[in-house]
Amino acid sequence: MAVSKDPTLIGSMFARIVPRYDLMNRLMTFGRDAAWRRLTVDLAGPDAEALALDVGCGTGDLTLALAGRCRAAVGIDFCAEMLQAAQEKARAQGAAIELALADAHHLPFPDDTFGCIVTGFALRNVADIRRVLAEMHRVAVPGGRMACLELTPPGDGPVGRVNALYQRRFVPLLGQMVTGDAAAYAYLPASVASFPQAEVLAEMMRAAGWRQVGYRRLGFGAVAIHYGVK
Ligand SMILES: C[S@@+](CC[C@H](N)C(=O)[O-])C[C@H]1O[C@@H](n2cnc3c(N)ncnc32)[C@H](O)[C@@H]1O
Repeated sequence: MAVSKDPTLIGSMFARIVPRYDLMNRLMTFGRDAAWRRLTVDLAGPDAEALALDVGCGTGDLTLALAGRCRAAVGIDFCAEMLQAAQEKARAQGAAIELALADAHHLPFPDDTFGCIVTGFALRNVADIRRVLAEMHRVAVPGGRMACLELTPPGDGPVGRVNALYQRRFVPLLGQMVTGDAAAYAYLPASVASFPQAEVLAEMMRAAGWRQVGYRRLGFGAVAIHYGVK
């Protein structure tokens, strides 16, 4: 199935689901996303001296996880409603984060700025993955690390087929019940199916300049965390 990555459509889809976005994440992942996020931050090499960046920060869970472990944490997103939710969450937690409305294809930061960069469930939604990986590389300091948490196309084996069925049938149904927006959650499996396989994404990272690239599969193979060093 062809999936549109038109920024206006993607942005308005995320704006619609903001109020129940966190709840859907917890339900869809059986609460596992919190542990995956912790591991993502670990793999991005947080450092009390480093500036940290979260690309496509959404409601800010990864940005907030970085904030406690780096000198300062910045989250960018092109959806103002998502940023507003992140801001409210930070205020409720008494956490200091910086948020900016920006497109991941054109990060509004100078070269060599961040020691630690993460992105969570965002890369699947961008129009040009290579460009975003290159932008993340550009703004990383030499020796800086990145980690990308993302759904990954299910394999052809029995577990992969169960995963695909879960995403195609159960997730849109749950999305309809919890958010009233079946379309947004029908987009999810379609976007996963058209996303590069884990090894292909690793190769795209290398082509963007990242070194020591690797990845870990989680969630019965439905999730991968890729990581690399500039
Ligand atoms: C599935 S949500 C993930 C949010 C958050 N990172 C998390 O881990 O829950 C994807 C986010 O990426 C943002 N996004 C998608 N394409 C983007 C782009 N080109 N530039 C900036 N943000 C983008 C969306 O607005 C949305 O908030």
